[in-house]
Amino acid sequence: MSGAAFPGSGGAGSSASQMPPLVRPPVRPQEPPSHIPRDEQTVTEPIPFERPVAAAPATAPDAPAAEVRPLGPTGRPFPHLPEPRPVAEHGGARVIAMCNQKGGVGKTTTTINLGASLAELGRKVLLVDFDPQGSLSVGLGLNPHEMDLSIYNLLMQRDVTIDDVVVPSGVPGMDLLPSNIDLSAAEVQLVHEVAREQTLQRVLAPAIERYDVILIDCQPSLGLLTVNALTASDGVIVPLECEYFALRGVALLKQTIDKVRERLNPRLEIDGVLGTMYDGRTLHGREVMERLVQAWGDTVFHTVIRRTVKFSDATVAGEPITAYASSSTGAEAYRSLAKEVLTRWPDE
Ligand SMILES: Nc1ncnc2c1ncn2[C@@H]1O[C@H](COP(=O)(O)OP(=O)(O)OP(=O)(O)O)[C@@H](O)[C@H]1O
Ligand SMILES: [Mg+2]
Repeated sequence: MSGAAFPGSGGAGSSASQMPPLVRPPVRPQEPPSHIPRDEQTVTEPIPFERPVAAAPATAPDAPAAEVRPLGPTGRPFPHLPEPRPVAEHGGARVIAMCNQKGGVGKTTTTINLGASLAELGRKVLLVDFDPQGSLSVGLGLNPHEMDLSIYNLLMQRDVTIDDVVVPSGVPGMDLLPSNIDLSAAEVQLVHEVAREQTLQRVLAPAIERYDVILIDCQPSLGLLTVNALTASDGVIVPLECEYFALRGVALLKQTIDKVRERLNPRLEIDGVLGTMYDGRTLHGREVMERLVQAWGDTVFHTVIRRTVKFSDATVAGEPITAYASSSTGAEAYRSLAKEVLTRWPDE
């Protein structure tokens, strides 16, 4: 999928920030039966909108029945995700920025767990912590105060190489360029550099031939660090919390991506929008998901990450969920995302 823009978001009046508010049919308040606990009442809530029903295909009487795929959480038939091909030689990495200027939407969680799932599929993965909060590094068990060198040194000191900074992540096949609060100084210092937007691209260049995937965890802003990440990338993944307010601001993110594509990096594509922290038991969650698909169509990944406390537990343990709770639904969701992502990449 080329994903050069959010489908349907280009014209006037169609951006997320301009969407009309959700309209629900009036519901007569009803006292729920007292024997049903409050938690379960949301589960039985009726769905107020029609799900699209796939038209029956016209087939010859004795033709084998076409496979009917069940609807996924996005309301579209969930596609068959093929087992990715094994990789014989590593290199030619695709660089992906995990980007959304809204905070707490699942960028870091997605970077760790998508990276770990791609590593499980035999891909050699480099994670880049490009957020001065250093959550990606902490989420993989590193102590920010005990780092000798970080991505800051790689960006600002010519005599520091990737090999000096890269550390193993604890997951086989996955390495990390860590970060800590020092990186916040880079945002100020880079302003005075020549080709300041290309600095990350320049320092990552030697890693391209060693890895299959490089995932950059961006900070929640559209400042110079994020522009550097977009300039260094082939694709962007936009994690979006399945909350109505999360839809606001995505138009601005898309504008930034378009500007970087026009002025700095013509190969930049949007690989997909990922619904995170989804709760399909609530009407709100389902409505927001419907809105996402209405606005951005097939740019929205079929895979959706549900809300579960296991992600916070895994962060405390300093591990990806694929290691901390390997058979949990959260781990399976990120494995599914890894396969889906690979189906969208041109060289896979
Ligand atoms: N699917 C999920 N279900 C429940 N909690 C989640 C889920 N995904 C992430 N979280 C939790 O939400 C919090 C924010 O997630 P995360 O740090 O990944 O977001 P972020 O977009 O990187 O935030 P920031 O913008 O601050 O960098 C974390 O505590 C994380 O454990
Ligand atoms: Mg983060």
